[in-house]
Amino acid sequence: MKIAPSILSANFLNIQKDVKIVDQAGAEYLHIDIMDGHFVPNLSFGPAAVQALRPMTDMVLDCHLMVEQPDMYIQQFAQAGADVIGVHVEATPHIHRTLALIKENGCKAEVVVNPGTPISAIQELLPFVDAVLIMTVDPGFGGQKFIPEVVNKIRQLTKIRKKEQFWFEVEVDGGINDTTIKECASAGATIAVAGSFVFESEDPSKKVALLKELTKD
Ligand code: DX5
Ligand code: ZN
Repeated sequence: MKIAPSILSANFLNIQKDVKIVDQAGAEYLHIDIMDGHFVPNLSFGPAAVQALRPMTDMVLDCHLMVEQPDMYIQQFAQAGADVIGVHVEATPHIHRTLALIKENGCKAEVVVNPGTPISAIQELLPFVDAVLIMTVDPGFGGQKFIPEVVNKIRQLTKIRKKEQFWFEVEVDGGINDTTIKECASAGATIAVAGSFVFESEDPSKKVALLKELTKD
C-alpha cells in the first residue's frame, strides 16, 4: 500500500521537518485536509498552505476538500500545486461537474464518501474517477476511532473495480493504525491516510516504515 501521512496531526511550528521525515521514510503521498467550518465542524488549511508545502517535497500532494461549494476553490488548489483533489459526493449536487473541473485543471480527480454514504451513490462516477476515498471516520478531526462497518464498503468497491477492470486508487482515511490498516489492505485499499498514528508518536519515520511493512505485497 501507499502511505499518505496527514499533516493535520503534524507540528505546525516545524512543518518542514515533519514533511521531510515522512518523505525520507518512504511515504508516497502527503495528505492535506482542507476544512471550511461548514461541511465539517472544523477549520484547517487553505491554498496558501498547499503553495508553501509544494517546494518542500516531491510527494504527491493529496488535497482532501471538506468544503461546501467545492467548485469555487478547485482552480486555486490546482495552481497552488495540488496533484490530487478529493471532493465529497455529499458536498455538491453536481459532483460530475466538479470532478471534470478538477481534471480540466490538470489534477487527478478523487471522489470521497462519508461512512454513512453507500457505494451506490458513486457508482456512475467510477469509470471517470482517478481515485475513490472511503472515509473510515466521520470527517472533521484527527484522532477518531476507525468505524469497522466501513470495511464492507471497501470490499464492495474492490469487487466492482476488479469486475469492471477499473484502475482507480482506493484510499482510506480515518483511524488508521497498525491494526486497522491490515483490515483495509486485505479488503483491497491501495492508499492509507494516517495522521495521529504517524505524527503523534516519538518516531514518525518508524511508524511510516511499519505501515509499509505491514501492507507490502
Ligand atoms: C479527518 C481527516 C483525516 C485525519 C486523519 O477528517 O480527513 O485525514 O487527518 O487523522 P487520523 O489518522 O488521526 O484519524
Ligand atoms: Zn483527510
